[in-house]
Amino acid sequence: MLKVVDAKSAAMLASMREASAIAVGVLEMIGAHVRPGVTTAYLDRLCHDYIVAHGGVPACVGYLGYRHATCISVNQVVCHGIPGPLRLDDGDLLNIDVVVRHGGMHADTSAMFAAGTPSTEAARLSRITQECLYLGIAEVRAGKRLGDVGAVIHEHAHRNGYSVVRDFCGHGIGAAMHEAPQVRHFGQRHSGVRLMPGMTFTIEPMLNAGRREVGLLADGWTVVTRDRSLSAQWEHTVLATTDGFEVLTLRPGELAGWEAFRAKR
Ligand code: MF3
Ligand code: CO
Ligand code: CO
Repeated sequence: MLKVVDAKSAAMLASMREASAIAVGVLEMIGAHVRPGVTTAYLDRLCHDYIVAHGGVPACVGYLGYRHATCISVNQVVCHGIPGPLRLDDGDLLNIDVVVRHGGMHADTSAMFAAGTPSTEAARLSRITQECLYLGIAEVRAGKRLGDVGAVIHEHAHRNGYSVVRDFCGHGIGAAMHEAPQVRHFGQRHSGVRLMPGMTFTIEPMLNAGRREVGLLADGWTVVTRDRSLSAQWEHTVLATTDGFEVLTLRPGELAGWEAFRAKR
């Protein structure tokens, strides 16, 4: 039995655009606050207050018992890092992941930041991971399949010497934070769910500098690389359209980089 993935209505999309605008604002705001000496709890508080002040709901709060507005994943943390008393050091590489609900609909996006000056290797891992996200997004159009998205992501990671985490995927998104289908960051071209106009889902590749295996810390949330190598992730919420895609969570600050990337291809 094929799983039918519903297209979002115009009203649902309108709410997703509003949720997205707030999530975009969070990531645009928080960059200036990421510096050595601040705690991840402090960064989470700023994000939480921004969401509420702009009329959104921090959708992670209360989700499966999670208590924070963001996940903040530092260095070897792959995803679901819990904001807390950890103070950032010069050179730390971190992902801030935020989910906003508005009008009953969700937007989910994350970006990489560095406290102070990242190492050359950290900066490269972050850049290649963002290129993987962009390559995956560029595959999106009606008639393409999710295997096409996964394949280009995995190939770009692999040819640059990085592994792709398989234990966590992108996901459909809408009235629920996590909906069908799963969006794998590896796969075979011409396979998997066929994209249809009006589908909304995230693409959120996690790349490791070392091996792809992950472990879960005793807090039940924090996912780390098993070999403790550096990990990076970028995430967007994307709408499939008849002739392509719309990146609902595209930030004004990344537009120039996005256009330069598109022009190269
Ligand atoms: N933002 C995550 C994702 O990309 C999910 C957050 S889990 C939560 O799917 F518990 F923090 F909500
Ligand atoms: Co997500
Ligand atoms: Co997310």
